[in-house]
Amino acid sequence: MRTAYFTTSEDDLRKAGAIIAAGGLVAFPTETVYGLGADALSPSAAKDTYAAKGRPSDNPLIVHISAFDQIETLAEEVPDAAKLLADAFWPGPLTMVLRKKPIVPDETTGGLPTVAVRLPDSDAARRLIDLAGTPVSGPSANLSGHPSPTSWQHCRHDLDGRIDGIIMGEPCRGGIESTVLDLTGEKPQILRPGLITPEMVTEATGLPCGYDPAILGRPDPALRPKAPGMKYRHYAPKAEMILYSGPADRVRSVIGKEAEKQRALGKNVAVLLYGEEETALLAREFFARLREADDQNVDLILAAALPAGDELAFSVMNRMLKAAGYRIVEV
Ligand code: TXA
Ligand code: MG
Repeated sequence: MRTAYFTTSEDDLRKAGAIIAAGGLVAFPTETVYGLGADALSPSAAKDTYAAKGRPSDNPLIVHISAFDQIETLAEEVPDAAKLLADAFWPGPLTMVLRKKPIVPDETTGGLPTVAVRLPDSDAARRLIDLAGTPVSGPSANLSGHPSPTSWQHCRHDLDGRIDGIIMGEPCRGGIESTVLDLTGEKPQILRPGLITPEMVTEATGLPCGYDPAILGRPDPALRPKAPGMKYRHYAPKAEMILYSGPADRVRSVIGKEAEKQRALGKNVAVLLYGEEETALLAREFFARLREADDQNVDLILAAALPAGDELAFSVMNRMLKAAGYRIVEV
Protein backbone atom coordinates (compact mmCIF):
# COMPACT_ATOMS: atom_id res chain seq x y z
CA MET A 1 0.00 0.00 0.00
CA ARG A 2 1.23 3.49 -0.84
CA THR A 3 0.82 5.93 2.06
CA ALA A 4 -0.38 9.43 1.09
CA TYR A 5 1.01 12.46 2.95
CA PHE A 6 -1.29 15.36 3.82
CA THR A 7 -0.79 18.86 5.17
CA THR A 8 -3.27 20.40 7.62
CA SER A 9 -4.86 22.54 4.87
CA GLU A 10 -8.65 22.34 4.55
CA ASP A 11 -8.28 20.61 1.17
CA ASP A 12 -5.95 17.96 2.49
CA LEU A 13 -7.97 17.36 5.66
CA ARG A 14 -11.02 16.87 3.43
CA LYS A 15 -9.20 14.17 1.46
CA ALA A 16 -8.00 12.52 4.68
CA GLY A 17 -11.51 12.68 6.14
CA ALA A 18 -12.92 11.03 3.02
CA ILE A 19 -10.44 8.16 3.42
CA ILE A 20 -11.61 7.60 7.00
CA ALA A 21 -15.28 7.83 5.97
CA ALA A 22 -14.57 5.13 3.36
CA GLY A 23 -13.06 2.79 5.96
CA GLY A 24 -9.37 3.69 5.57
CA LEU A 25 -6.65 4.54 8.11
CA VAL A 26 -5.02 7.97 8.49
CA ALA A 27 -2.53 9.02 11.21
CA PHE A 28 -3.36 12.42 12.72
CA PRO A 29 -1.82 14.86 15.21
CA THR A 30 -3.16 15.49 18.70
CA GLU A 31 -1.72 17.41 21.63
CA THR A 32 -0.58 14.18 23.34
CA VAL A 33 0.71 11.75 20.71
CA TYR A 34 -0.25 11.00 17.08
CA GLY A 35 -3.32 8.79 16.66
CA LEU A 36 -4.13 6.20 13.99
CA GLY A 37 -7.53 7.43 12.83
CA ALA A 38 -10.33 5.22 11.55
CA ASP A 39 -14.14 5.15 11.56
CA ALA A 40 -14.89 4.21 15.17
CA LEU A 41 -18.28 2.79 14.21
CA SER A 42 -16.91 0.34 11.64
CA PRO A 43 -15.92 -3.18 12.82
CA SER A 44 -13.75 -3.75 9.76
CA ALA A 45 -11.88 -0.46 10.23
CA ALA A 46 -11.12 -1.54 13.81
CA LYS A 47 -9.78 -4.89 12.57
CA ASP A 48 -7.59 -3.10 10.02
CA THR A 49 -6.31 -0.81 12.79
CA TYR A 50 -5.16 -3.77 14.90
CA ALA A 51 -3.54 -5.37 11.85
CA ALA A 52 -1.66 -2.19 10.84
CA LYS A 53 -0.28 -1.71 14.36
CA GLY A 54 0.35 -5.39 14.97
CA ARG A 55 -1.66 -4.93 18.15
CA PRO A 56 -3.64 -7.52 20.08
CA SER A 57 -7.34 -6.99 19.41
CA ASP A 58 -8.34 -7.25 23.08
CA ASN A 59 -6.84 -3.78 23.63
CA PRO A 60 -9.67 -1.28 23.14
CA LEU A 61 -9.38 1.90 21.07
CA ILE A 62 -10.02 5.47 22.23
CA VAL A 63 -12.83 7.19 20.31
CA HIS A 64 -12.17 10.84 19.40
CA ILE A 65 -14.98 13.36 18.99
CA SER A 66 -14.96 16.99 17.85
CA ALA A 67 -17.68 18.44 20.10
CA PHE A 68 -19.01 17.47 23.52
CA ASP A 69 -22.55 16.70 22.25
CA GLN A 70 -21.25 13.76 20.23
CA ILE A 71 -20.64 11.91 23.49
CA GLU A 72 -24.41 11.26 23.60
CA THR A 73 -24.23 9.16 20.45
CA LEU A 74 -21.58 6.89 22.00
CA ALA A 75 -22.39 6.67 25.73
CA GLU A 76 -25.46 5.12 27.31
CA GLU A 77 -25.47 7.73 30.04
CA VAL A 78 -23.37 10.80 30.66
CA PRO A 79 -22.87 11.37 34.39
CA ASP A 80 -22.65 14.90 35.82
CA ALA A 81 -18.96 14.28 36.54
CA ALA A 82 -18.35 13.83 32.80
CA LYS A 83 -19.91 17.23 32.08
CA LEU A 84 -17.86 18.91 34.79
CA LEU A 85 -14.68 17.26 33.56
CA ALA A 86 -15.40 18.22 29.96
CA ASP A 87 -15.95 21.84 31.05
CA ALA A 88 -12.64 21.81 32.89
CA PHE A 89 -10.37 19.80 30.57
CA TRP A 90 -11.85 19.37 27.07
CA PRO A 91 -10.49 19.83 24.55
CA GLY A 92 -7.52 18.22 26.24
CA PRO A 93 -5.56 15.17 27.36
CA LEU A 94 -8.37 13.41 29.24
CA THR A 95 -10.11 10.23 28.09
CA MET A 96 -13.35 9.25 29.84
CA VAL A 97 -14.55 5.65 30.03
CA LEU A 98 -18.36 5.40 29.96
CA ARG A 99 -20.93 2.67 29.37
CA LYS A 100 -21.25 2.28 25.59
CA LYS A 101 -24.26 2.38 23.30
CA PRO A 102 -24.79 -0.60 20.98
CA ILE A 103 -23.77 1.54 17.98
CA VAL A 104 -20.13 1.29 19.14
CA PRO A 105 -18.91 -2.07 17.84
CA ASP A 106 -17.24 -4.65 20.08
CA GLU A 107 -14.29 -4.59 17.69
CA THR A 108 -13.63 -0.98 18.71
CA THR A 109 -13.93 -1.61 22.46
CA GLY A 110 -12.09 -4.91 22.51
CA GLY A 111 -15.32 -6.60 23.62
CA LEU A 112 -15.78 -4.33 26.65
CA PRO A 113 -19.23 -2.91 27.50
CA THR A 114 -17.61 0.52 27.87
CA VAL A 115 -16.21 3.10 25.47
CA ALA A 116 -13.28 5.48 26.00
CA VAL A 117 -14.00 8.98 24.64
CA ARG A 118 -11.68 11.95 24.10
CA LEU A 119 -12.03 15.45 22.64
CA PRO A 120 -8.49 16.32 21.51
CA ASP A 121 -6.95 19.78 21.70
CA SER A 122 -5.78 19.99 18.11
CA ASP A 123 -7.59 22.04 15.46
CA ALA A 124 -6.46 19.66 12.73
CA ALA A 125 -7.72 16.63 14.67
CA ARG A 126 -11.13 18.15 15.35
CA ARG A 127 -11.50 19.36 11.74
CA LEU A 128 -10.56 15.88 10.50
CA ILE A 129 -13.25 14.32 12.70
CA ASP A 130 -15.82 16.82 11.38
CA LEU A 131 -14.87 16.14 7.78
CA ALA A 132 -14.88 12.36 8.30
CA GLY A 133 -18.44 12.75 9.59
CA THR A 134 -17.98 10.02 12.19
CA PRO A 135 -16.25 9.58 15.55
CA VAL A 136 -12.63 8.60 14.92
CA SER A 137 -10.92 5.79 16.78
CA GLY A 138 -7.30 6.54 17.51
CA PRO A 139 -4.78 4.33 19.20
CA SER A 140 -1.29 5.78 19.21
CA ALA A 141 0.03 5.62 15.62
CA ASN A 142 3.03 3.41 16.32
CA LEU A 143 3.78 -0.25 15.74
CA SER A 144 2.76 -2.18 18.84
CA GLY A 145 5.70 -2.30 21.27
CA HIS A 146 7.39 0.83 19.87
CA PRO A 147 7.39 4.15 21.75
CA SER A 148 4.33 6.31 21.05
CA PRO A 149 4.81 8.75 18.13
CA THR A 150 5.10 12.45 18.92
CA SER A 151 5.77 13.64 15.35
CA TRP A 152 4.53 12.67 11.90
CA GLN A 153 8.02 11.43 11.09
CA HIS A 154 7.66 8.84 13.88
CA CYS A 155 4.41 7.68 12.23
CA ARG A 156 6.17 7.43 8.87
CA HIS A 157 8.98 5.40 10.45
CA ASP A 158 6.55 2.83 11.88
CA LEU A 159 3.60 2.79 9.48
CA ASP A 160 4.66 3.96 6.00
CA GLY A 161 3.28 1.44 3.53
CA ARG A 162 0.89 -0.04 6.16
CA ILE A 163 -1.76 2.73 6.29
CA ASP A 164 -3.57 4.97 3.79
CA GLY A 165 -2.34 8.34 4.97
CA ILE A 166 -0.38 10.47 7.41
CA ILE A 167 -1.20 14.09 8.28
CA MET A 168 2.00 16.10 8.64
CA GLY A 169 0.92 18.22 11.61
CA GLU A 170 2.85 19.82 14.43
CA PRO A 171 5.02 17.88 16.87
CA CYS A 172 2.94 17.02 19.96
CA ARG A 173 2.97 19.51 22.84
CA GLY A 174 2.13 17.04 25.63
CA GLY A 175 4.22 14.05 24.68
CA ILE A 176 2.65 11.37 26.86
CA GLU A 177 -0.73 9.81 26.22
CA SER A 178 -3.96 11.08 27.75
CA THR A 179 -5.13 10.24 31.25
CA VAL A 180 -7.68 7.40 31.00
CA LEU A 181 -10.38 7.93 33.63
CA ASP A 182 -13.07 5.36 34.42
CA LEU A 183 -16.43 7.00 35.20
CA THR A 184 -18.48 3.80 35.37
CA GLY A 185 -17.78 3.04 39.05
CA GLU A 186 -18.78 4.65 42.33
CA LYS A 187 -16.07 7.26 42.02
CA PRO A 188 -13.69 8.29 39.24
CA GLN A 189 -10.63 6.06 38.92
CA ILE A 190 -7.52 6.63 36.80
CA LEU A 191 -6.69 3.62 34.63
CA ARG A 192 -3.71 5.23 32.88
CA PRO A 193 -1.84 8.17 34.44
CA GLY A 194 -1.29 11.25 32.29
CA LEU A 195 -1.27 15.03 32.28
CA ILE A 196 -4.63 15.26 34.09
CA THR A 197 -3.95 14.21 37.68
CA PRO A 198 -6.26 12.85 40.43
CA GLU A 199 -6.13 16.25 42.19
CA MET A 200 -7.33 17.96 39.04
CA VAL A 201 -10.22 15.47 38.72
CA THR A 202 -11.20 16.04 42.34
CA GLU A 203 -11.03 19.77 41.95
CA ALA A 204 -13.33 19.69 38.91
CA THR A 205 -15.87 17.19 40.26
CA GLY A 206 -15.66 17.38 44.05
CA LEU A 207 -15.29 13.58 44.00
CA PRO A 208 -12.40 11.56 45.43
CA CYS A 209 -10.21 10.06 42.72
CA GLY A 210 -7.46 7.46 42.89
CA TYR A 211 -5.49 5.12 40.67
CA ASP A 212 -6.38 1.60 39.59
CA PRO A 213 -4.19 -0.37 42.05
CA ALA A 214 -2.94 -2.53 39.17
CA ILE A 215 -0.99 0.41 37.67
CA LEU A 216 0.80 1.47 40.84
CA GLY A 217 3.61 -1.04 40.75
CA ARG A 218 5.22 -3.56 38.49
CA PRO A 219 2.78 -5.47 36.28
CA ASP A 220 1.41 -8.24 38.50
CA PRO A 221 -0.45 -11.12 36.85
CA ALA A 222 -2.68 -11.31 39.95
CA LEU A 223 -3.77 -7.69 39.49
CA ARG A 224 -5.41 -7.18 36.12
CA PRO A 225 -5.34 -3.54 34.99
CA LYS A 226 -8.77 -2.27 33.96
CA ALA A 227 -7.24 -0.58 30.91
CA PRO A 228 -6.18 -3.69 29.01
CA GLY A 229 -3.38 -1.78 27.27
CA MET A 230 -1.57 -1.22 30.57
CA LYS A 231 -0.63 -4.89 30.86
CA TYR A 232 1.60 -4.81 27.81
CA ARG A 233 5.31 -4.02 27.96
CA HIS A 234 5.05 -0.70 26.15
CA TYR A 235 7.47 1.92 25.07
CA ALA A 236 10.45 -0.36 25.07
CA PRO A 237 13.57 0.95 23.36
CA LYS A 238 15.94 -1.63 21.88
CA ALA A 239 18.59 -0.45 24.32
CA GLU A 240 18.78 -1.60 27.90
CA MET A 241 17.62 1.20 30.20
CA ILE A 242 18.42 1.78 33.88
CA LEU A 243 16.88 4.42 36.16
CA TYR A 244 18.76 6.03 39.05
CA SER A 245 16.87 7.45 42.00
CA GLY A 246 18.17 9.60 44.88
CA PRO A 247 19.45 13.12 45.61
CA ALA A 248 19.93 14.96 42.28
CA ASP A 249 23.67 15.60 42.75
CA ARG A 250 24.40 12.00 43.58
CA VAL A 251 22.33 10.72 40.69
CA ARG A 252 24.18 13.01 38.31
CA SER A 253 27.59 11.88 39.49
CA VAL A 254 26.73 8.16 39.61
CA ILE A 255 25.30 8.30 36.08
CA GLY A 256 28.37 10.22 34.87
CA LYS A 257 30.75 7.60 36.28
CA GLU A 258 28.70 4.67 35.03
CA ALA A 259 28.50 6.20 31.54
CA GLU A 260 32.27 6.65 31.49
CA LYS A 261 32.83 3.07 32.61
CA GLN A 262 30.44 1.58 30.06
CA ARG A 263 31.88 3.71 27.23
CA ALA A 264 35.35 2.48 28.14
CA LEU A 265 33.95 -1.02 27.64
CA GLY A 266 32.88 -0.04 24.14
CA LYS A 267 29.19 0.47 24.86
CA ASN A 268 27.18 3.16 23.08
CA VAL A 269 25.64 5.01 26.05
CA ALA A 270 22.90 7.65 26.13
CA VAL A 271 22.15 9.71 29.23
CA LEU A 272 18.78 11.23 30.14
CA LEU A 273 19.27 13.80 32.87
CA TYR A 274 16.22 15.98 33.39
CA GLY A 275 15.77 17.86 36.64
CA GLU A 276 12.56 17.92 38.64
CA GLU A 277 11.68 21.34 37.19
CA GLU A 278 11.98 19.88 33.68
CA THR A 279 9.26 17.26 34.11
CA ALA A 280 6.98 18.76 31.44
CA LEU A 281 9.92 18.97 29.03
CA LEU A 282 10.83 15.34 29.69
CA ALA A 283 7.18 14.34 29.12
CA ARG A 284 7.28 16.07 25.74
CA GLU A 285 10.64 14.64 24.68
CA PHE A 286 10.74 11.20 26.29
CA PHE A 287 9.37 9.03 23.47
CA ALA A 288 11.40 10.95 20.87
CA ARG A 289 14.55 10.38 22.93
CA LEU A 290 13.85 6.63 23.03
CA ARG A 291 13.42 6.59 19.26
CA GLU A 292 16.64 8.59 18.79
CA ALA A 293 18.49 6.05 20.92
CA ASP A 294 17.16 3.25 18.72
CA ASP A 295 18.19 5.10 15.53
CA GLN A 296 21.70 5.63 16.92
CA ASN A 297 22.04 2.00 17.99
CA VAL A 298 22.46 2.94 21.63
CA ASP A 299 23.16 -0.10 23.86
CA LEU A 300 22.48 1.45 27.24
CA ILE A 301 20.33 4.38 28.43
CA LEU A 302 21.09 5.77 31.89
CA ALA A 303 18.32 8.01 33.18
CA ALA A 304 17.60 10.04 36.29
CA ALA A 305 14.31 8.98 37.91
CA LEU A 306 11.83 11.72 38.73
CA PRO A 307 11.00 12.40 42.38
CA ALA A 308 8.05 10.55 43.88
CA GLY A 309 5.16 12.66 45.05
CA ASP A 310 4.68 14.96 42.08
CA GLU A 311 1.64 13.77 40.08
CA LEU A 312 2.92 14.69 36.61
CA ALA A 313 6.27 13.12 37.50
CA PHE A 314 4.34 9.97 38.46
CA SER A 315 2.80 9.82 34.98
CA VAL A 316 6.15 10.27 33.26
CA MET A 317 7.81 7.75 35.60
CA ASN A 318 5.08 5.25 34.68
CA ARG A 319 6.41 5.36 31.07
CA MET A 320 10.06 5.42 32.17
CA LEU A 321 9.65 2.38 34.42
CA LYS A 322 8.03 0.42 31.60
CA ALA A 323 10.79 1.41 29.19
CA ALA A 324 13.38 0.32 31.75
CA GLY A 325 11.63 -2.96 32.50
CA TYR A 326 11.33 -1.66 36.12
CA ARG A 327 15.12 -1.54 36.66
CA ILE A 328 15.73 1.21 39.17
CA VAL A 329 18.87 1.72 41.27
CA GLU A 330 18.78 3.70 44.55
CA VAL A 331 21.91 5.82 45.02
O1 TXA B 1 -3.42 10.46 24.16
C1 TXA B 1 -4.01 9.45 23.79
O2 TXA B 1 -4.84 8.87 24.49
C2 TXA B 1 -3.69 8.90 22.39
C3 TXA B 1 -4.18 9.92 21.36
C4 TXA B 1 -4.03 9.44 19.95
O3 TXA B 1 -5.50 10.27 21.65
N1 TXA B 1 -4.27 7.59 22.18
C5 TXA B 1 -3.80 6.47 22.82
O4 TXA B 1 -4.47 5.31 22.48
O5 TXA B 1 -2.89 6.49 23.60
P1 TXA B 1 -3.92 3.84 22.82
O6 TXA B 1 -4.84 2.95 22.09
O7 TXA B 1 -2.50 3.73 22.50
O8 TXA B 1 -4.19 3.66 24.35
C6 TXA B 1 -5.51 3.53 24.82
C7 TXA B 1 -5.52 3.07 26.26
C8 TXA B 1 -5.16 1.61 26.36
O9 TXA B 1 -4.37 1.40 27.53
C9 TXA B 1 -6.52 0.95 26.48
O10 TXA B 1 -6.45 -0.27 27.13
C10 TXA B 1 -7.32 1.99 27.25
O11 TXA B 1 -6.86 3.22 26.77
N2 TXA B 1 -8.77 1.89 26.96
C11 TXA B 1 -9.40 2.15 25.79
N3 TXA B 1 -10.72 1.90 25.89
C12 TXA B 1 -10.94 1.47 27.16
C13 TXA B 1 -12.09 1.04 27.88
N4 TXA B 1 -13.30 0.99 27.32
N5 TXA B 1 -11.93 0.65 29.17
C14 TXA B 1 -10.70 0.70 29.75
N6 TXA B 1 -9.58 1.10 29.12
C15 TXA B 1 -9.68 1.46 27.84
MG1 MG C 1 -0.46 3.16 22.52
